[in-house]
Amino acid sequence: MKSNLIESIKLRRSIYNLNNQSTISDQQLIDQIKAITQFVPSPFNIQSGRVVILLGENHHKLWNIVLETLRKIVPAANFASTENKIKSFDAGYGTILFFDDTPSVEDLKAKFPLYQQHFDSWADQANGMLQFAVWTYLAEHNMGASLQHYNPLIDDEVKKTFNLPKEWRLIAQMPFGTIAAPAGEKSFLPIDERVRVHK
Ligand SMILES: Cc1cc2nc3c(=O)[nH]c(=O)nc-3n(C[C@H](O)[C@H](O)[C@H](O)COP(=O)(O)O)c2cc1C
Repeated sequence: MKSNLIESIKLRRSIYNLNNQSTISDQQLIDQIKAITQFVPSPFNIQSGRVVILLGENHHKLWNIVLETLRKIVPAANFASTENKIKSFDAGYGTILFFDDTPSVEDLKAKFPLYQQHFDSWADQANGMLQFAVWTYLAEHNMGASLQHYNPLIDDEVKKTFNLPKEWRLIAQMPFGTIAAPAGEKSFLPIDERVRVHK
C-alpha cells in the first residue's frame, strides 16, 4: 500500500531557490506548525522545543540581521557570495526558527540525575524530529525549504528583535517559499549497508 507519509519524505529536499509565495494560507501554516510542535515526541515529554514563525517584514528582518552580522566578520573580498546566499533565503516567503527552552532541560537534569548527561543531546534529537516534521509538511504542500545554522552568531540580535526569552537556545533557521528551482541530483549509499535485517 502506498504511504502518503513516505511519498512526502521522499519529496522533501533542500531547496535554495525560493519565491516569496506560499501554497498554504498563513493561518493554516500556523495551525499545522502548532499541531506538529504539539504532537512531535520529546524526552520525558519535556516539550522544550520552541518555534517562531516569521512572515512578511519579520522574515526580511531576520535575513538582514544575518547579512549585517556576517558583514562584520567575512572578509570583504568574499562577501559577494555570502550576500548572494543570504539574499536567496530572503527571497522566500517566511522563515521558521527552532529553539530549545534551556530551563526546561535543566529542570529535567535536576529531577533525573541518572540521565542528566543525555538530556542536551535528547533535546537536540527532539528538535531535529520537529524540524524534520515541519520540513516534510512543507514539502507535502509543494513548498521548498532548507535548514540553516547562523546560530550562535545571530542569537542576541534575533532575541532582541523578536522579543524572545534569553534562555531560548537557537538551533536552526528554516527559510521557505514556493520552489523557484528544484533541488539537484542526490546520491544514495547502498541501502542494505545502512539497514540490516535479521528475521
Ligand atoms: C542536522 C542537519 C544540519 C544541516 N545543516 C545545514 C546547513 O547548515 N546548511 C545547509 O544549507 N544545509 C544543511 N543541511 C541540509 C543537508 O545538507 C541536506 O539535507 C543533505 O545534503 C541532503 O539533501 P536534501 O536535503 O536535498 O535531501 C542540514 C541537514 C541536517 C539534517
